[in-house]
Amino acid sequence: MPHAITLHEITKAYGGLKAVDRFSLGVERGTVFGLLGPNGAGKTTLIKVLTTLMRPTAGDAFVEGFSVLAAGKSVRRVIGVVPQENNLDRYLTARENLILHGRLHGMSPAAYNPRIDELLEMTGLASRQKEFPDTFSGGMQRRLVVARALVHEPRVLFLDEPTTGLDPQSRRALWEYIRGLRRRMTVFLTTHYMDEADALCDRIMIMDHGVSLADGTAGELKDAFSRAHVYEVEFRGDGAGYEALLLALPFVSSVERNGASFQITLAGEDSIKPLMDRLVGAEIRRICLKEPTLEDVFISLTGEKVRE
Ligand SMILES: Nc1ncnc2c1ncn2[C@@H]1O[C@H](COP(=O)(O)OP(=O)(O)O)[C@@H](O)[C@H]1O
Ligand SMILES: [Mg+2]
Repeated sequence: MPHAITLHEITKAYGGLKAVDRFSLGVERGTVFGLLGPNGAGKTTLIKVLTTLMRPTAGDAFVEGFSVLAAGKSVRRVIGVVPQENNLDRYLTARENLILHGRLHGMSPAAYNPRIDELLEMTGLASRQKEFPDTFSGGMQRRLVVARALVHEPRVLFLDEPTTGLDPQSRRALWEYIRGLRRRMTVFLTTHYMDEADALCDRIMIMDHGVSLADGTAGELKDAFSRAHVYEVEFRGDGAGYEALLLALPFVSSVERNGASFQITLAGEDSIKPLMDRLVGAEIRRICLKEPTLEDVFISLTGEKVRE
């Protein structure tokens, strides 16, 4: 399987600080790859190296086979970029922003006009195309930046925190567009939202302090990093009588009670059967497995300390 993006031991230092440290990676063509990490992890630095805005201190990276060091111009021709900060031209209308981008990529009006019509339609901005970006909501501006990145039909799309600061509706709308792009191009996105990575990405890499900490599908990451088996059991009535019973069971590591509802952490998967045996005849209203979230994985890898 050919890789659309390959990184060979990329290092980027700012003075003494290694923002990215010997980072290697291959991203399969036609997939959505998510780079997850807290503020300062090195995500934007990696995107800047891959989109040729910054030269790496050491190492090389290839986008569609073109070296970011030796063939920057070819790299820029095949990529679309949605930077962390919206950088629309506020003195041009929405449509003019897209036209300018098409012209910068050497497209003729016959090539860019139908493409722009299609993108404005897809991003729900057709009726606002003659207006200036300053009059748009954050979600609309973000959609316009995504549309702009797609005008020249890139083969690889880079999105740096595409939905940070957007309301839930706008986030979900953007997710839909990104899902629609899957397989037609390779998508490389960064985010610090676990649910976003879970919803969009074929493969996720969690990074911090310039290095990768783990990678895999959302399911693989959850399986690998959740040692606990947590069940929620809700009894009819007040459940008070069950607390002592549960705490006395040798295969129950902890019990948290909230009224008639108990969160029970088991020693392992094998403990489900004995737990059920002990609860035979109990008045159970509801029982469910609490699946670990990607957020649990993220916190267990990167710690609870708040970042600047
Ligand atoms: N231009 C710069 N000069 C000096 N340090 C920088 C520069 N850009 C980023 N950094 C530092 O590099 C580290 C990684 O930053 P960045 O790549 O922006 O992380 P992220 O996008 O994951 O939040 C941070 O410690 C940040 O302060
Ligand atoms: Mg960033």
